[in-house]
Amino acid sequence: MSKLTLSARKIDDAGKQRTQCAVLPIFGDGKLAGVAKDLDKANGGSISQLLSLGDFAGKAGQSHLLPGTGAAARLLLIGCGKQADMDSGAGRAFGEHVAKALAGLKAKDAVLFLDDMKDSDALRELLPYAARLVTTARYRYNETLSKPKPAAQLGKLVVSIGNGLSTRDANRLLGQGQQTGDGVNVARELANLPGNICTPNYLAKEARKLGRKHGKLTTKILDEKKMRELGMGSLLSVSAGSDEPARFIIMEYKGGKAKAQPYVLVGKGITFDTGGISLKPGAKMDEMKFDMGGAASVFGTMSALCELELPINVVGIVAAAENMPSGRATKPGDVVTSMSGRTIEILNTDAEGRLVLCDALTYAERYKPAAVIDIATLTGACVVALGHHASGLYANKDSLADELLAAGTQSHDRAWRMPLWDDYQKQLNTNFADVANIGGPGGGSITAACFLARFAEKYDWAHLDIAGSAWTSAPKGATGRPVAMLTRYLQDRAGQ
Ligand code: BES
Ligand code: MN
Ligand code: ZN
Repeated sequence: MSKLTLSARKIDDAGKQRTQCAVLPIFGDGKLAGVAKDLDKANGGSISQLLSLGDFAGKAGQSHLLPGTGAAARLLLIGCGKQADMDSGAGRAFGEHVAKALAGLKAKDAVLFLDDMKDSDALRELLPYAARLVTTARYRYNETLSKPKPAAQLGKLVVSIGNGLSTRDANRLLGQGQQTGDGVNVARELANLPGNICTPNYLAKEARKLGRKHGKLTTKILDEKKMRELGMGSLLSVSAGSDEPARFIIMEYKGGKAKAQPYVLVGKGITFDTGGISLKPGAKMDEMKFDMGGAASVFGTMSALCELELPINVVGIVAAAENMPSGRATKPGDVVTSMSGRTIEILNTDAEGRLVLCDALTYAERYKPAAVIDIATLTGACVVALGHHASGLYANKDSLADELLAAGTQSHDRAWRMPLWDDYQKQLNTNFADVANIGGPGGGSITAACFLARFAEKYDWAHLDIAGSAWTSAPKGATGRPVAMLTRYLQDRAGQ
């Protein structure tokens, strides 16, 4: 995928600006002003003519394409609603509309005129968001197609800004959005790859590749022998039925002071989840290739943070395994010993995510982390509870939960907090081990989180259940969530 050249400038004479496409917000106030007026004049009054016909009134959600008669070959008009109603929601909708409309054109370059957006706070939100969306709109899944899909046409986008913001700030914000978008695309690509390509070992190789690309990132891979030595009996019980060996992947990014406590991201990396002996039904089972979406988001976020060169320390951990039935597979009722020393009765081999994560959470203790966040396509119950718009958020610390919720709102990659009350914990009691790996029929996302909470008592911890947000079924594909939220969270921690 070729990279979009993206930059902000102050343009004095909009009408004289040569471009294949001038993109213009049109406010629904009934009168053209500012740059819109200049471009109208430079194009023989075609914009005011269109408005007078009444078909396009600059309402939010409306757009219209006109051939230009001046220096711009096309005029892409994006309705914004009344200028006075322009809040961050309307700004976001505008950014989404621009990215989508540009992706449908043959124009190789474009100028987005934001001079008339006077509210500099709104602009500060819009620039990184729009940059991220034009970047994610370029993504194509091609890896297993014999003929690649046509690539994005747009090669260059200039954003023209007024005096509310310095060019330097605007360029920084655009760069941040683009780098976040690249991270989102990294996560989507990994998650979209089929299970016969994207195996635990494939993920390990991807981590090594990322380490070679970035000087501040070092990679360590633990094989099953090493995991056995560490006592990761819970994680290994998941890979037991598979011919693909598990991999424990550690990526250490050192951008901060040597002694600064790191933020640790832990991703569920089940490269395919058949359910194991507690076999899943056949319908939609193919979607369980996405069961490494949490791991993919760790890769995407690590990659974004390397590009952003954030001055903090971050460790990315991926617990990668394939969950298969076989003669050597774990059986319901089997009891295993986790790295924490606690025993687990595996009542359902399909509740495997928590089994790989608990050992990763114990491993994370060695970093004396500032915070640990795990990300997992953990439960179908979370999809029932929240649908596909919000990730489920759990935390043992209110301030951490609030920071993540705020990062989600800011990046429009949102989460909703769920309870971790002790009342739910007793669903995990059993006569045969310290803890069972499933609770009762109710509150499945909550009891899964309660299981994890028992292994995360030594530090501030949050858990994101992304079973509903990590992919869509129609059209089928990975969303790259919650890379944008996590990247925003880390930017906030780094004061950027
Ligand atoms: N990977 C699944 C969760 C999942 C299911 C994500 C559907 C997205 C869509 C997970 O490993 C799983 O199978 N969870 C079980 C837990 C149950 C056995 C307690 C589930 O949700 O059914
Ligand atoms: Mn499962
Ligand atoms: Zn799973």
